[in-house]
Amino acid sequence: MRVGSVELSCAVMTASGTSGHGTELGAYFDLSSIGAVVVKSMKVDPWAGNPAPRVHPVTGGMINSVGLQGEGIAHWRRSELPALESAGATVVASIWGRNVAEYAAAARALGDLGADVVAVEVNLSCPNLDGGAHLFAHDPVAAAEVIAATESCGRPRWAKLSANTDRVVEVAAAVAEAGAEAVTLVNTLMGMVIDVENSTPVLGSGAAGGGLSGAAIHPVAVRTVFDVHAALPGLPIVGVGGIGDTRGAVEMMMAGADAVQIGTASFAEPRSVHMVRVGLEHWCGHRGIAAVRDLKGRAHG
Ligand code: SIN
Repeated sequence: MRVGSVELSCAVMTASGTSGHGTELGAYFDLSSIGAVVVKSMKVDPWAGNPAPRVHPVTGGMINSVGLQGEGIAHWRRSELPALESAGATVVASIWGRNVAEYAAAARALGDLGADVVAVEVNLSCPNLDGGAHLFAHDPVAAAEVIAATESCGRPRWAKLSANTDRVVEVAAAVAEAGAEAVTLVNTLMGMVIDVENSTPVLGSGAAGGGLSGAAIHPVAVRTVFDVHAALPGLPIVGVGGIGDTRGAVEMMMAGADAVQIGTASFAEPRSVHMVRVGLEHWCGHRGIAAVRDLKGRAHG
């Protein structure tokens, strides 16, 4: 199974931000058995994130306004990465910044990592900074500038994009041109929940709202993958958004994804990534499909 030049043992990974920075899911399955552990997005320095409450359940998923809390890249390398390496996990690091210089600094801080970190996902699409007002993923020029500035990470970059914009195909083309080897589609959708007894937004971010994830956004993610694959058939795609079972993963791959990530489903069932990995193999086996990768793009006829 390949995403661009990156060889993965299987097509199913964790989604960034849903399994911590390290081996949190290792209690539920062998981390070396999945395609990759994609860790929560990090910047160079520690970042406190947004005020609580930061997560809230909704019909068909959840909404979060975590705000990219983390201890920074040096801490991750010292305190979390060694355990992932010991577990035999294939690792995808994820980086973010408030501006191009911070993305570049994060990329540089990863430049000398070992071979088990196979790719860097560049998160251009978190809706939880400034309420999503300055999302790089909404602007092809800004997104391309970030990708061009992160080459020093020294490994394939996957640009994580947003379906909050109708320019996603344009943005995908721009980041590919700037050096991204793949795109990860999609991040959470901008949303809000209101506490009707108190007449206030539920999340601590207040008027800035949060990012909706889970089954509720799955058709949006599938459509986005479908559109980007139709327009840019040579661009590798990692599909993410509301996959909770084998059928959802098959759908995403038929839309055009080379591989998939599972996020919100892991909160309800921590073995989801493992279960979908096994399920995909069975699904293909029962239908005489020789390899999971053969599912890619089937819905395009
Ligand atoms: C967050 O930490 O706010 C979520 C990260 C993301 O949506 O990219």
